[in-house]
Amino acid sequence: MIEIARKLTSSSRLPSIDLTNPEFGKDCSDHMFCATYRNGEWTNPEIVPFGDITFSPAMLALHYGQSVFEGMKAFRMQDGRISIFRPHSHLERFNRSLDRMCMPTISEELFFDALIEMLKVDQGWVPTAPGTSLYLRPFCFASEPRLKIKIADQYQFMILMSPAGKYFGKPYRLKVETKYTRTAEGGTGYAKCAGNYGSSFYPVKKAIEEGFDQVLWTDAKEHRYIDEAGMMNIMFMVDGKIITPSLSTAILEGITRDSVLTIARDQEIVVEERRIAVDELESYLREGRVTEAFGTGTAAVVAPVQMIRIGENDYNIPTPNETSFHNKAYVILNDIRKGLAPDIHGWNFII
Ligand SMILES: Cc1ncc(COP(=O)(O)O)c(C=O)c1O
Repeated sequence: MIEIARKLTSSSRLPSIDLTNPEFGKDCSDHMFCATYRNGEWTNPEIVPFGDITFSPAMLALHYGQSVFEGMKAFRMQDGRISIFRPHSHLERFNRSLDRMCMPTISEELFFDALIEMLKVDQGWVPTAPGTSLYLRPFCFASEPRLKIKIADQYQFMILMSPAGKYFGKPYRLKVETKYTRTAEGGTGYAKCAGNYGSSFYPVKKAIEEGFDQVLWTDAKEHRYIDEAGMMNIMFMVDGKIITPSLSTAILEGITRDSVLTIARDQEIVVEERRIAVDELESYLREGRVTEAFGTGTAAVVAPVQMIRIGENDYNIPTPNETSFHNKAYVILNDIRKGLAPDIHGWNFII
């Protein structure tokens, strides 16, 4: 167990927060976790009141982009306990991202001790209403002040927590993107580094101006194969089978993706993880064989797609109902997280 210093606030903001339907990402809990990497080791782990931080404007993260984050959720279970969904998988991905960005990795002990202590200190911030959760944001950035381009020697690891309401997004209208790219094979797509998001903004902004909600990224080389949907993984139900792009260095390995595919296999639904050509998808859409299309991700869990534009053509996807696989998968996932269904895969980490 790591010794974590605590400086707690004497005036909680919790009484002013509506936990029945919190807006995603708006308010952070009363405290934050901080640790500093210096001389080759993580030091000074502490929990302090949430607030501004002071660093040099020359800090390397701002100039050369060594900045990595994770996003996961803690849930209030039916019996009142708090559980984090698949934190070991998130830590593995966090460390893969840190490694790709030449940043120091985080030990299991530091990660879990920090999360457990944060959730103990701010346990009142875990909402109870259906569909709500506490979003957990571990992140790491190069804090060394230096204008020269170099791999930093100093870093900051922090955790913020923010109550999240039930996701009520309308079904997505997607545009298959064949001009811009988010990332390329051999690039940083499989890492959750800040730059991937910065580079996505422009093409997504353009798509929104054209009346879409998001883009469906294609491979950088030929724009021939489907990668991901905006900031989610993408799945199609075709002839009763789930088809989803196989993982590559250009695709973020979603924890929700893996959970939903596992649920599908548990239900004996055939899953195909493979390259999906845009042409192939278009022929399925034209022949009316796509019964569901949906994105998967921590924020929305599952997000149905209503329409896909390929070139000049718009293809509508049937409106989902309670028998749609992605709606059933949402209910199963929710029941496991709440402790209402057996956690057969050991996904809940109970505090
Ligand atoms: C680019 C991208 N793809 C996919 C996902 C889905 O990943 P997860 O299910 O782990 O949230 C996310 C969200 O984290 C993302 O940012």
